[in-house]
Amino acid sequence: MKREGFASRLGMIAAAAGSAIGLGNIWRFPYITGKGGGAAFIVIYLIFIVFIGMSCLLTEFVIGRRGQSDAIGSFLKLSRNKYWSVGGWLCVITVSLIFSFYIVVFGWTINYLVKSIFNIFADKTPQEIGILFSTTTSSVFSPIVYAYIGLGITAFVVVDGIEHGIEKCSKILMPLLFALMVILLLRSLTLPGAGKGIAFLLKPDFSKVTTEVILIALGQAFFTLSLGAAVMITYGSYINKKERMGSAVVQICFINCSISLLAGFVIFPAAFTFGINPGEGPGLAFVTLPNIFQQMTGGYYFAIIFFLLLTVASLTSTISMLEAIVACIREQIMLTRKQAIAIGITIVAILCIPCSLSFGPMNNTKIFGHTFFDICNLITSNYGMPIGSLIFVFFVGWFFGKDNVKDELSNSGKLPVRYFPYYLFTIRFIVPIAILIIFLTKLGVF
Ligand code: PFF
Repeated sequence: MKREGFASRLGMIAAAAGSAIGLGNIWRFPYITGKGGGAAFIVIYLIFIVFIGMSCLLTEFVIGRRGQSDAIGSFLKLSRNKYWSVGGWLCVITVSLIFSFYIVVFGWTINYLVKSIFNIFADKTPQEIGILFSTTTSSVFSPIVYAYIGLGITAFVVVDGIEHGIEKCSKILMPLLFALMVILLLRSLTLPGAGKGIAFLLKPDFSKVTTEVILIALGQAFFTLSLGAAVMITYGSYINKKERMGSAVVQICFINCSISLLAGFVIFPAAFTFGINPGEGPGLAFVTLPNIFQQMTGGYYFAIIFFLLLTVASLTSTISMLEAIVACIREQIMLTRKQAIAIGITIVAILCIPCSLSFGPMNNTKIFGHTFFDICNLITSNYGMPIGSLIFVFFVGWFFGKDNVKDELSNSGKLPVRYFPYYLFTIRFIVPIAILIIFLTKLGVF
């Protein structure tokens, strides 16, 4: 059977950037930047993206394209040793857990898109908007129904395969996302408080930078590039053998960081104009922004545009998560795409129930002091993604063979790869040391 693949470079970049750009950029990045001191946090985050994120992304592409299989299969093929496939298994478990909590927030987003279309925020006081968010998330059935709608839309795209489903859809959704962002940006930058918001994003205040903030920035770099979670290995396996992977990685990271920064430039000027604390936390998108839209001229339309943007961004990420799971089920158990999708969405449909109920009836059901939603989030960001990435760079850096890696990156010697020594040094030393420092810090050694 001929392996499916991306038909064009543009489609490949749109799909991979689509996976990277998501709730992590538009929902999480602004609120952690707000808490982490604005520009100072951004500088650290960008350093991590350039020195760690890019090499990890390239490593996943190398494993996928060389292995020509799903995450587990690629590892098995390249290592010819079943113990290494642990790396593949781990990242498939990681992506399933991420998917389970991510789909819940995606559900809230669709719910808020509907609410904004019906103008539900109109004439509500800030308290009422806050209560609206807690009642929305703590209900038993409706958040699960919305999460299932998100799951259904995702499956609808993935069922058409790589070229006709994922690639085609990403080529439409990514320009749409960019256009929506630009509209919001124009509005935000013409608000009276824009100057203060921009200053917050551009003037670093290093006094807010603590070890915790540095760890969060590193975690965000992994999360935003969808690393250590099977996705980029799977997408790597669909990249054409003639494609230049090095430059693709630079472009994907550039697009991804630009969208995060633009999200900051949309949100902070608005927050400062309406006197809202930028360190608001996770409620920033669902409580603070509806409040701001309420007070803004044309806010009805801008609310719809914002939640549409968040929906589009989430969708291109959930598509990549489902594809990573489906590829494993198809190739390891030899099922058809449809059967694999049915199994994949059933697993996520079950796991997302306790995640959603964590905000309602299961709020007091704690595992190690955390709700199920928080556990999925914490385990994946703190351990799953960094450990997955550690295994990948270790394998490619030390075991796979320098010549094999160079051969893959240079398309069998056809491309110059002047960056190769730097790349090899980074994945051999910098990335493992950085990840080890995180763990030791978390364990309290430092
Ligand atoms: N990169 C996505 C975001 O920033 O929203 C999140 C994500 C997608 C994480 C896919 C992991 C993954 F496998």
